[in-house]
Amino acid sequence: MKLIIDNADIEAIKNVYEYYPVDGVTTNPSILAATGRQPYEVLHEIRDFIGSDELHVQVISGVAEDIIKEAHRIVAELGPHTFVKIPCVPEGFKAMKALVEEGVLLTGTAVYTPMQALLAAKCGVNYVAPYINRIDNMGYDGIGVEKHIHDIFKNNNLTTEVLAASFKNSQQLLELCEYGIGAATVAPDVITGLVKNPAITAAVDDFRRDFEKLTKPGKTMYNL
Ligand code: G3P
Repeated sequence: MKLIIDNADIEAIKNVYEYYPVDGVTTNPSILAATGRQPYEVLHEIRDFIGSDELHVQVISGVAEDIIKEAHRIVAELGPHTFVKIPCVPEGFKAMKALVEEGVLLTGTAVYTPMQALLAAKCGVNYVAPYINRIDNMGYDGIGVEKHIHDIFKNNNLTTEVLAASFKNSQQLLELCEYGIGAATVAPDVITGLVKNPAITAAVDDFRRDFEKLTKPGKTMYNL
Protein backbone atom coordinates (compact mmCIF):
# COMPACT_ATOMS: atom_id res chain seq x y z
CA MET A 1 0.00 0.00 0.00
CA LYS A 2 1.35 3.42 -0.94
CA LEU A 3 1.41 5.89 1.93
CA ILE A 4 0.81 9.48 0.91
CA ILE A 5 0.76 12.68 2.98
CA ASP A 6 -2.55 14.56 2.94
CA ASN A 7 -1.24 18.04 3.72
CA ALA A 8 0.30 21.13 2.09
CA ASP A 9 2.35 22.48 4.98
CA ILE A 10 5.90 22.19 3.70
CA GLU A 11 7.43 21.91 7.16
CA ALA A 12 5.04 19.09 8.11
CA ILE A 13 5.79 17.36 4.79
CA LYS A 14 9.56 17.67 5.32
CA ASN A 15 9.24 16.27 8.82
CA VAL A 16 7.27 13.20 7.68
CA TYR A 17 9.65 12.61 4.77
CA GLU A 18 12.63 12.74 7.12
CA TYR A 19 11.38 9.89 9.30
CA TYR A 20 8.90 7.78 7.35
CA PRO A 21 8.77 5.86 4.05
CA VAL A 22 6.19 7.86 2.11
CA ASP A 23 5.31 8.03 -1.56
CA GLY A 24 4.03 11.52 -2.21
CA VAL A 25 1.59 14.26 -1.28
CA THR A 26 -2.10 14.90 -1.87
CA THR A 27 -3.80 18.25 -1.57
CA ASN A 28 -7.29 19.60 -1.98
CA PRO A 29 -8.61 23.20 -2.05
CA SER A 30 -9.32 23.17 1.71
CA ILE A 31 -5.82 21.86 2.49
CA LEU A 32 -4.30 24.60 0.31
CA ALA A 33 -6.51 27.22 1.96
CA ALA A 34 -5.21 26.13 5.37
CA THR A 35 -1.70 27.27 4.36
CA GLY A 36 -2.94 30.84 3.75
CA ARG A 37 -0.54 31.05 0.79
CA GLN A 38 -0.97 31.23 -2.97
CA PRO A 39 -1.70 27.75 -4.42
CA TYR A 40 0.98 27.48 -7.10
CA GLU A 41 3.63 28.96 -4.80
CA VAL A 42 2.93 26.22 -2.22
CA LEU A 43 2.61 23.47 -4.82
CA HIS A 44 5.91 24.37 -6.52
CA GLU A 45 7.61 24.27 -3.16
CA ILE A 46 6.18 20.80 -2.49
CA ARG A 47 7.14 19.58 -5.97
CA ASP A 48 10.71 20.85 -5.61
CA PHE A 49 11.02 19.03 -2.28
CA ILE A 50 9.44 15.67 -3.25
CA GLY A 51 11.09 15.41 -6.67
CA SER A 52 9.35 12.87 -8.89
CA ASP A 53 7.07 11.44 -6.17
CA GLU A 54 3.30 11.64 -6.66
CA LEU A 55 1.64 15.03 -6.17
CA HIS A 56 -2.17 15.19 -6.35
CA VAL A 57 -3.81 18.54 -7.08
CA GLN A 58 -7.54 19.18 -7.32
CA VAL A 59 -9.47 21.21 -9.90
CA ILE A 60 -12.08 23.79 -8.93
CA SER A 61 -14.26 24.27 -12.04
CA GLY A 62 -17.73 22.81 -12.37
CA VAL A 63 -17.83 22.28 -16.14
CA ALA A 64 -15.80 19.78 -18.13
CA GLU A 65 -14.22 22.25 -20.57
CA ASP A 66 -12.81 24.32 -17.70
CA ILE A 67 -11.76 21.23 -15.71
CA ILE A 68 -9.71 20.19 -18.74
CA LYS A 69 -8.06 23.63 -18.91
CA GLU A 70 -7.22 23.41 -15.20
CA ALA A 71 -5.73 19.95 -15.68
CA HIS A 72 -3.48 21.22 -18.48
CA ARG A 73 -2.27 24.14 -16.35
CA ILE A 74 -1.68 21.93 -13.29
CA VAL A 75 0.45 19.46 -15.27
CA ALA A 76 2.30 22.26 -17.11
CA GLU A 77 3.17 23.88 -13.78
CA LEU A 78 3.97 20.79 -11.72
CA GLY A 79 5.21 18.18 -14.15
CA PRO A 80 4.42 14.69 -15.37
CA HIS A 81 4.21 12.94 -11.99
CA THR A 82 1.24 15.08 -11.01
CA PHE A 83 -2.21 13.53 -10.60
CA VAL A 84 -5.13 15.83 -11.33
CA LYS A 85 -7.94 15.28 -8.82
CA ILE A 86 -11.38 15.59 -10.36
CA PRO A 87 -14.65 15.22 -8.40
CA CYS A 88 -16.71 12.17 -9.42
CA VAL A 89 -19.72 14.07 -10.74
CA PRO A 90 -21.12 14.11 -14.31
CA GLU A 91 -19.00 17.05 -15.57
CA GLY A 92 -16.03 15.40 -13.91
CA PHE A 93 -16.61 12.11 -15.74
CA LYS A 94 -16.82 13.98 -19.05
CA ALA A 95 -13.47 15.67 -18.35
CA MET A 96 -11.91 12.40 -17.14
CA LYS A 97 -12.71 10.62 -20.40
CA ALA A 98 -11.03 13.35 -22.46
CA LEU A 99 -7.99 13.63 -20.17
CA VAL A 100 -7.44 9.86 -20.03
CA GLU A 101 -7.25 9.93 -23.84
CA GLU A 102 -4.45 12.50 -23.51
CA GLY A 103 -2.59 10.37 -20.96
CA VAL A 104 -3.04 12.77 -18.02
CA LEU A 105 -2.77 11.01 -14.63
CA LEU A 106 -6.05 11.29 -12.72
CA THR A 107 -7.56 10.75 -9.29
CA GLY A 108 -11.34 10.69 -8.97
CA THR A 109 -12.20 12.45 -5.74
CA ALA A 110 -15.15 13.38 -3.47
CA VAL A 111 -16.16 9.71 -3.56
CA TYR A 112 -18.91 8.62 -1.17
CA THR A 113 -20.43 5.71 -3.11
CA PRO A 114 -19.20 2.63 -4.98
CA MET A 115 -21.18 3.72 -8.05
CA GLN A 116 -19.17 6.96 -8.32
CA ALA A 117 -15.99 4.91 -8.02
CA LEU A 118 -17.08 2.42 -10.69
CA LEU A 119 -17.93 5.17 -13.19
CA ALA A 120 -14.61 6.94 -12.61
CA ALA A 121 -12.73 3.65 -13.00
CA LYS A 122 -14.54 2.99 -16.26
CA CYS A 123 -13.41 6.45 -17.42
CA GLY A 124 -9.87 5.15 -16.85
CA VAL A 125 -8.67 7.16 -13.84
CA ASN A 126 -5.62 5.89 -11.94
CA TYR A 127 -7.12 6.29 -8.46
CA VAL A 128 -10.41 7.01 -6.76
CA ALA A 129 -10.42 8.58 -3.31
CA PRO A 130 -13.33 7.54 -1.05
CA TYR A 131 -13.64 9.51 2.21
CA ILE A 132 -13.78 7.17 5.22
CA ASN A 133 -14.45 9.65 8.00
CA ARG A 134 -16.99 11.68 6.07
CA ILE A 135 -18.88 8.49 5.12
CA ASP A 136 -18.83 7.40 8.77
CA ASN A 137 -20.24 10.79 9.75
CA MET A 138 -23.18 10.22 7.39
CA GLY A 139 -24.04 7.06 9.33
CA TYR A 140 -22.49 4.57 6.89
CA ASP A 141 -19.43 2.34 7.14
CA GLY A 142 -16.48 4.20 5.60
CA ILE A 143 -14.03 1.30 5.86
CA GLY A 144 -16.68 -1.01 4.39
CA VAL A 145 -17.13 1.32 1.40
CA GLU A 146 -13.36 1.33 0.77
CA LYS A 147 -13.27 -2.47 0.76
CA HIS A 148 -16.38 -2.72 -1.37
CA ILE A 149 -14.87 -0.44 -4.03
CA HIS A 150 -11.56 -2.35 -3.94
CA ASP A 151 -13.47 -5.62 -4.51
CA ILE A 152 -15.47 -4.12 -7.39
CA PHE A 153 -12.24 -3.08 -9.12
CA LYS A 154 -10.52 -6.44 -8.62
CA ASN A 155 -13.60 -8.50 -9.62
CA ASN A 156 -14.00 -6.47 -12.81
CA ASN A 157 -10.31 -6.41 -13.76
CA LEU A 158 -10.26 -2.62 -13.51
CA THR A 159 -6.75 -1.26 -13.04
CA THR A 160 -7.88 1.74 -10.97
CA GLU A 161 -6.68 1.62 -7.37
CA VAL A 162 -8.39 2.87 -4.23
CA LEU A 163 -6.63 5.87 -2.69
CA ALA A 164 -8.30 5.79 0.71
CA ALA A 165 -8.76 9.27 2.20
CA SER A 166 -10.21 11.07 5.22
CA PHE A 167 -8.73 8.96 8.03
CA LYS A 168 -9.15 9.64 11.70
CA ASN A 169 -6.88 7.00 13.20
CA SER A 170 -4.06 4.58 12.49
CA GLN A 171 -6.20 1.46 13.07
CA GLN A 172 -8.23 2.35 9.97
CA LEU A 173 -4.99 2.51 8.01
CA LEU A 174 -3.81 -0.89 9.21
CA GLU A 175 -7.16 -2.51 8.41
CA LEU A 176 -7.05 -1.24 4.82
CA CYS A 177 -3.39 -2.19 4.45
CA GLU A 178 -4.24 -5.77 5.49
CA TYR A 179 -7.02 -5.78 2.91
CA GLY A 180 -4.60 -4.85 0.09
CA ILE A 181 -5.93 -1.37 -0.64
CA GLY A 182 -3.66 0.32 -3.21
CA ALA A 183 -2.91 3.59 -1.43
CA ALA A 184 -3.85 5.73 1.53
CA THR A 185 -3.51 9.45 1.97
CA VAL A 186 -3.15 10.41 5.58
CA ALA A 187 -2.60 13.53 7.68
CA PRO A 188 0.86 13.79 9.28
CA ASP A 189 -0.49 13.22 12.81
CA VAL A 190 -2.10 9.91 11.81
CA ILE A 191 1.20 8.77 10.23
CA THR A 192 3.20 9.63 13.35
CA GLY A 193 0.44 8.00 15.44
CA LEU A 194 1.26 4.66 13.81
CA VAL A 195 4.23 4.19 16.13
CA LYS A 196 3.29 6.48 19.02
CA ASN A 197 3.11 3.91 21.77
CA PRO A 198 4.52 4.13 25.33
CA ALA A 199 5.39 0.41 25.29
CA ILE A 200 7.63 0.88 22.25
CA THR A 201 9.38 3.90 23.75
CA ALA A 202 9.86 2.12 27.09
CA ALA A 203 11.37 -0.96 25.42
CA VAL A 204 13.89 1.15 23.47
CA ASP A 205 14.78 3.15 26.62
CA ASP A 206 15.28 -0.08 28.61
CA PHE A 207 17.71 -1.45 26.03
CA ARG A 208 19.76 1.76 26.12
CA ARG A 209 19.79 1.83 29.94
CA ASP A 210 20.96 -1.80 30.15
CA PHE A 211 23.73 -1.15 27.64
CA GLU A 212 24.91 1.95 29.50
CA LYS A 213 24.94 -0.01 32.77
CA LEU A 214 27.25 -2.51 31.11
CA THR A 215 29.46 0.18 29.55
CA LYS A 216 29.11 3.90 30.41
CA PRO A 217 26.49 6.58 29.79
CA GLY A 218 26.70 7.83 26.20
CA LYS A 219 28.36 4.64 24.93
CA THR A 220 26.98 2.97 21.82
CA MET A 221 28.19 0.30 19.43
CA TYR A 222 30.21 2.91 17.45
CA ASN A 223 32.09 4.61 20.28
CA LEU A 224 33.00 1.73 22.62
O1 G3P B 1 -8.06 14.91 0.46
C1 G3P B 1 -9.39 14.62 0.77
C2 G3P B 1 -9.65 13.96 2.07
O2 G3P B 1 -8.50 13.44 2.61
C3 G3P B 1 -10.48 14.75 3.01
O3 G3P B 1 -10.16 14.47 4.32
O4 G3P B 1 -10.22 14.86 6.73
O5 G3P B 1 -11.12 16.62 5.19
O6 G3P B 1 -12.35 14.49 5.51
P1 G3P B 1 -11.00 15.15 5.51
